[in-house]
Amino acid sequence: MIPITINDKQTKVPEDLSVLEAVREQGIYIPTLCYHEALEPAGSCRLCIVEVEERGRVRTAASCVTPLTPNMIIRTDTEKILKIRRILLELLMARCPGLKVLEQMAAQMGVKKVRFAQEDDDCFLCGQCVRACSEIVGVSAIGFSDRGVNNKIGAPFLKASNVCISCGTCTTICPAGTFHLERVDNLVSLHRYSNEYHQEKCRVCGDHFVV
Ligand code: SF4
Ligand code: FES
Repeated sequence: MIPITINDKQTKVPEDLSVLEAVREQGIYIPTLCYHEALEPAGSCRLCIVEVEERGRVRTAASCVTPLTPNMIIRTDTEKILKIRRILLELLMARCPGLKVLEQMAAQMGVKKVRFAQEDDDCFLCGQCVRACSEIVGVSAIGFSDRGVNNKIGAPFLKASNVCISCGTCTTICPAGTFHLERVDNLVSLHRYSNEYHQEKCRVCGDHFVV
């Protein structure tokens, strides 16, 4: 256990936690979009930003990818931190208007309007689907393609993947509900990736499997 201070309150926490885990252990809310307990943290959405102070040096950091150090001082609710989070959320809402998960977060964080030009996407590139496919399923059927504003999720060259096993893990973990797995008889379609697979029904358990 190591001593740290969170929002002026001293406490002791296991040293192998991230800043995010330590803060959440104290029951303090920090918004996250790319973090999932079952995955390696990616630090991509930056919504979990906090202020950390170590040996008198103050900086902002994505709490999900920041390790704890003894006597670290963490501030989760300064004006600056709340303002950065609100702007980041506004940018995500401009990219993906109408997404429930973002609207719920906006209500919680007091974001009442979006001041940026609206796009028409339904994926905020958190990468949870990509990491789940790689880290949990172990096949890496999907990934990021293109760069910058054209960055998107899909199988290589945005064609049907020949390693996808249509397990549906990506559809389950996606916080945005971006794509869907549809099963009609023995044909499974993974919408958005244009993938289609023939499956057989197991005579014992009745579940389907890729042949
Ligand atoms: S499809 Fe869903 S899980 Fe994958 S990057 Fe987009 S929002 Fe995240
Ligand atoms: S949750 Fe930490 S950067 Fe996304």
